[in-house]
Amino acid sequence: MIVVLLGYMGSGKSTVGQKLAQRFDYKFLDLDYYIQKKFKTRIHDIFKNKGEIYFRKIEAECVKEICENNIDIVIALGGGTPCYGNTLDYLLSKSSVNTIYLKASLDNLVKRLSPEKNKRPIISNIGDENIKEFIAKHLFERSEFYDKAHYKIDTNSLTLNQIVNRIELLFKVK
Ligand code: S3P
Repeated sequence: MIVVLLGYMGSGKSTVGQKLAQRFDYKFLDLDYYIQKKFKTRIHDIFKNKGEIYFRKIEAECVKEICENNIDIVIALGGGTPCYGNTLDYLLSKSSVNTIYLKASLDNLVKRLSPEKNKRPIISNIGDENIKEFIAKHLFERSEFYDKAHYKIDTNSLTLNQIVNRIELLFKVK
């Protein structure tokens, strides 16, 4: 089985993914990390030097490469991965793949993302006074894609352990 975690930046995909992989005794792969290793460049520099369209192309290719070459793996996507090209359709069409949307509230996302704004190419140019409005609009646009995931976990009032327990339960009752 391939478990794919998706959701906005700062929704906890990597943290939850690592813990979940330990629990399942699966391999864990963070897509951004995979891309950085493969292309020997930081995501920030890919955006800066090659542009977002190029990044979207390689992230789509990398997701497919990972899914074709692995079984029993948890993958944390990038926040934008399911929103471009045919990546989400590809993931939804593969019977071995289970997609899970980690849904965090706007307030929590703003709280988590504001201090690390400069590390994130998508929001690094947004002024502090506009960050909440930007995320609200962006999240609204992306929710159309995130909402298509097989499962959705509202993470707002849950601890890391509780989130992992919920995900484990999804597969136990199946
Ligand atoms: C992006 C999210 C980032 C990374 C890139 C673009 C996005 O991943 O892929 O900076 O478009 O939301 P995380 O969600 O892991 O931060």
